[in-house]
Amino acid sequence: MNDSVDPVLAFAARFDGPGAPCTVAVPGRVNLIGEHIDYHNLPVLPMAIGRSIRVAFRARADRVIRVTSNSFGEREFEWAAHLEPSASGDWVNYVKAAAQAVEGRWKLKHGIDATVVSNLPAAAGLSSSSALLTGFTLALLRANGVEATFEQLMEVLPEGEYFVGTRGGGMDHAAVLAGRRGCAILVGFAPLSVSAVSVPHDWAFLIAHSLTTAEKSGEVLAKYNSRRTAGSSALRRLGYTSFSEALEQSGVEELTALARARLEDDEQRCFLHVVTEANRVHEGVAAMRAGDAGTFGRLLNESHASLRDWLRVSCPALDRLVEAANSAGALGARLTGAGFGGCAVILCRAAEQERVAEGIVERFYKGRAEFNREIHLMAARPSAGALCE
Ligand code: GLA
Repeated sequence: MNDSVDPVLAFAARFDGPGAPCTVAVPGRVNLIGEHIDYHNLPVLPMAIGRSIRVAFRARADRVIRVTSNSFGEREFEWAAHLEPSASGDWVNYVKAAAQAVEGRWKLKHGIDATVVSNLPAAAGLSSSSALLTGFTLALLRANGVEATFEQLMEVLPEGEYFVGTRGGGMDHAAVLAGRRGCAILVGFAPLSVSAVSVPHDWAFLIAHSLTTAEKSGEVLAKYNSRRTAGSSALRRLGYTSFSEALEQSGVEELTALARARLEDDEQRCFLHVVTEANRVHEGVAAMRAGDAGTFGRLLNESHASLRDWLRVSCPALDRLVEAANSAGALGARLTGAGFGGCAVILCRAAEQERVAEGIVERFYKGRAEFNREIHLMAARPSAGALCE
């Protein structure tokens, strides 16, 4: 899905009825640092970006849900108490996931007619799927007169995603809901917390696509879930009940030594990634608050190396892209999101953004017919989340 049509016009072209539809806009997000640790309830530092999915909708008298997208066509289903997923990969599953997530929690009598438009690249690690799920969830709730709080939404959305098969954490939903203009947000889980960290004015983040697609289905999903399982079993083997408990009791060095002595293979590698990445988040927040771009850039590079060598969620295209960014003058870069393809996030000085972008085009994209600058190489503007506009 990638279009810039006005959702209200698209809605009016498809659906008759009185008055203008309501709208909801949900941005994508880029994770700056703290990768593959949200599902272990460790803090992460994402930001909402200035690309979004927008849903225009109107409540219906019955419980039918009818959705259209220029790119993906029209779907319709009856909002029953228990919904069966459609074929894997069908976009209607995000709508069903939203319907299922809020069902039973609130009294919801009305289905919706809705049109969705998006300028957020899909399957790029920018959370288009969580934006879609969040957008439909907010539309269904608002059509029924419900204004749910951030905390309430965070109780239903990550679980809602399980409907489409991902056992992710809550980072994406937190970022797309609670992002603040000009800021990254430090999201803590268990207990849930969000605090805004201003992005210094002379920093710029670029998002560059590896031109390798990371579809969150099938094989990639299994690989993603296996990293989570290995981390959790490593934790149990060492006798801890949570990573935050482990990090409170022992420093990163001590935990690293423990892992090397008592864990093997995937469990060892995943554990090492998680504890060192948690530490990088901590240092990254301090560096951002201090305006220390050099340190933040170094942490990005270290995070990428850890994701590549320990967690093993990178791929050759992402590794080359990160290298290209660094040799084009970036201060640091790393894969962002689940990995296995998708995008890299790149830090550079704002004054050098154009030069770095041109250097990346020259080193990485040159001669690639599929490269489209609009979609594949963008400046990430720290933006407001759906609840903070
Ligand atoms: C996906 C998940 C997130 C998070 C990242 C990796 O985007 O949806 O919850 O786990 O992968 O950091």
